[in-house]
This record gives sequence, C-alpha cells and structure tokens, in this order.
Amino acid sequence: MAQSLYERLGGTDGITSIAADVVDNHAANPEVGKRFADSDIPALKQKAADFFITGSGGPQVYEGKSMLDAHRGMNISDEEFMAVVDDVMDALAKNGIGEGEKAEVLYIFYQLRPDVVRV
Ligand code: HEM
Repeated sequence: MAQSLYERLGGTDGITSIAADVVDNHAANPEVGKRFADSDIPALKQKAADFFITGSGGPQVYEGKSMLDAHRGMNISDEEFMAVVDDVMDALAKNGIGEGEKAEVLYIFYQLRPDVVRV
C-alpha cells in the first residue's frame, strides 16, 4: 500500500522539524516577519506541526482554530500568501523532502488559500 503523505514527510518527528523551520523562515522573512512579532514562537511551531501531522494523514492531534477563524480579519495579501508558501517549500527542501511530496504540499496549501487570503 502507498505510504501516506504523513509517513513520507518523516512522521511526527520529521513534520515537527519541518514545521519549526517553516516558522523560523516566516520570522526571518521581510514580507511576513512582522506578522509574527508578538507570537509565542515555540507554541506556534507546535501548532504548525500538529496542523500538518493531522492534515497529512497522521494522528488527530490538531486542536487549534480552523484556517478561517485563525486568519479572519488579518487582511492577508496574495504576496504574503506566496511568501508563506515559499517558506514552506524552502523548509521541505532543507529537510530533504523530494519534489513529489513538495508538489502535494503545494496543492494542499492552495486548497486552503480561500480561507486565508483577504478573509
Ligand atoms: C495555507 C496557508 C496557511 C496555513 C496552513 C496556516 C496555518 C496556521 C495555523 C495552523 C495557525 C495557528 C492557529 C491557531 O492559533 O489555532 C496560524 C496562525 C497564524 N497565521 Fe497562518 N497559515 C497560513 C497562511 C498564513 C499567511 C499567508 C499569513 C500571513 C503572513 C499567516 C499568518 C498567521 C498569523 C499571524 C497567525 C497567528 C500567530 C499567533 O497566534 O501567534 N498565515 N496559521
């Protein structure tokens, strides 16, 4: 049987490492860094990891907000969305994830876009 995306991203340990790099990339990214200036970074890393563990076919560990509730009222632009996607792709590459998995993650992010941009 084909492995789930969760397994191919390295399971809970692999995704925890990827999510930590994603949040570090956001904090250092001039396009979006200010959005996270007041964030509790370790807590956000855990939420990002849980979100992707659950969303990629792993255990049901995410107990955070829906994407609509999390981003409502922030007036997030297309440019910011693209910057966040770039940060995710860079984190995947840094963690040795291949092009096929990167394309799957990209597809999932674009499916979530209507709940994030200008909501
Ligand atoms: C599909 C793309 C995205 C996904 C999957 C995503 C995921 C998440 C998750 C899981 C949370 C935590 C929700 C909670 O607190 O329960 C969150 C919060 C947040 N997101 Fe996103 N996000 C995306 C795009 C963006 C973009 C483009 C921006 C703007 C730069 C952004 C800015 C934020 C901010 C500022 C928070 C709150 C951080 C905090 O509580 O400290 N997100 N996001």
